[in-house]
Amino acid sequence: MVKTYYITTYGCQMNVHESEKLAGILSKKGYIASENIETADIILFNTCAIRENAENHAFGNIGALKKLKKNNKDLIIAVGGCMTQQTGVAEILAKKFPFVDIIFGTHNLDDFGKMLDKKISSKKRVVEVLENEKQICEDTPKFRTSYPNAWVNITYGCNNFCTYCIVPYVRGRERSRKMDDILEECRRIVELGYKEITLLGQNVNSYGLDFNDENITFPILLKKIADIKGDFRLRFMTNHPKDLSDELIEAMLYSDKICKYIHLPVQSGSTKILELMNRRYTRENYLEKIKKLKEKIPNISITTDIMVGFPFETEEDFLDTLNLVKTCRFNGAFTFVYSKRKGTIAEKMDGQIEEAVSKDRIQRLIDLQNQIAKEISLEYKDKIVEVLCEDFDTKKEMYLGRDEFNRMCYFSSDENLIGKFVNVKITKTGGISLVGELV
Ligand code: SAH
Ligand code: SF4
Ligand code: F3S
Repeated sequence: MVKTYYITTYGCQMNVHESEKLAGILSKKGYIASENIETADIILFNTCAIRENAENHAFGNIGALKKLKKNNKDLIIAVGGCMTQQTGVAEILAKKFPFVDIIFGTHNLDDFGKMLDKKISSKKRVVEVLENEKQICEDTPKFRTSYPNAWVNITYGCNNFCTYCIVPYVRGRERSRKMDDILEECRRIVELGYKEITLLGQNVNSYGLDFNDENITFPILLKKIADIKGDFRLRFMTNHPKDLSDELIEAMLYSDKICKYIHLPVQSGSTKILELMNRRYTRENYLEKIKKLKEKIPNISITTDIMVGFPFETEEDFLDTLNLVKTCRFNGAFTFVYSKRKGTIAEKMDGQIEEAVSKDRIQRLIDLQNQIAKEISLEYKDKIVEVLCEDFDTKKEMYLGRDEFNRMCYFSSDENLIGKFVNVKITKTGGISLVGELV
């Protein structure tokens, strides 16, 4: 009988794509995806360590697998990703959950197939976490699960060491993929009929810096991908404000294929806090970049990440953040309460903020952002937008997709439109997503 696998993914898009590689490795070995976790022969957790609650979630869900293992002794349970890559975590996990069969980190994800073989042939637990990153592996198969969108890595790792962030410790130093490898992958994706490419990197703007070649930069890469023949959209994330260049703004205007959308995490509106975070830009620098983006690309959609409760954040600093949000009028914002991460610089800072204070601040921030998003949404009423249909929502019994500006839109159709660009006239606004009719 065919063996099956079930993958649970935590964290960012990078991890979602990493899971597509794990699925690719398993598919190549003849495994197929299982609809539900209970009946799978292999259960794989691809974890995240960005905030404490991401880890608690994973720990809780791994613990709950004990029952399944009891009922099925042949079940293989594997845990990998950013959480297990942290110093000492694999040992804790191994001790706490003796029923976990394979533990690996981020640096040896491409070797998952070998670890699985080892487990099956030796019948012994395999724990392999490498201390350092290896060279980029180009031949890991991918089983893509997000048609019509395809994720494409352009860089791995991060050199920025923002003082709150665990990513540089668990993903290693920044490495860029060769431009030819990226272009080849993008060409293949378009040939296969994918309609959207999203380029991934912790900081896409620093793509190519490790090659020290002025002909290998992110804006040049973006233009070259846009030159690929075919009907597709091009997105990229994430951008670090300190590295957002005029060349990138100009490159965004180069082709209609490049979405006029940018995710530009600000983190805080207070220069004092930004400095403590080691973000290497000031409130004024950030506002200037936003101004320039809006001037050069008048209809641009900008989203951001904001954190509250970073050490030493006073009410005044927080008001600076609220104020910046009012000025920028972001199309969307992911908001977080600062979470202490072991081994980071901020962990050891004095001035940690009480939970009640952070909770109050995040609520005020969410209320403000919701109000702004609602106002922006109202401007969509009766407009016709081009939507790439992505999925069918079985609860709402409607198709859904996003416009160029990354705004979600629902609509009805008798015909399956997944993977097609359609025009939708917006009839209902005000919520997180829009509702409209095909025109
Ligand atoms: N490389 C991306 C961010 C990846 S993490 C960038 O630099 O923009 C995604 C978001 O998680 C960050 O933008 C930040 O807002 C949030 N984040 C990171 N570390 C965090 C922590 N310790 N506590 C709370 N939020 C955090
Ligand atoms: Fe973390 Fe900063 Fe790197 Fe983003 S740029 S991954 S926030 S260290
Ligand atoms: Fe992503 Fe979480 Fe790792 S946000 S890079 S999966 S720590």
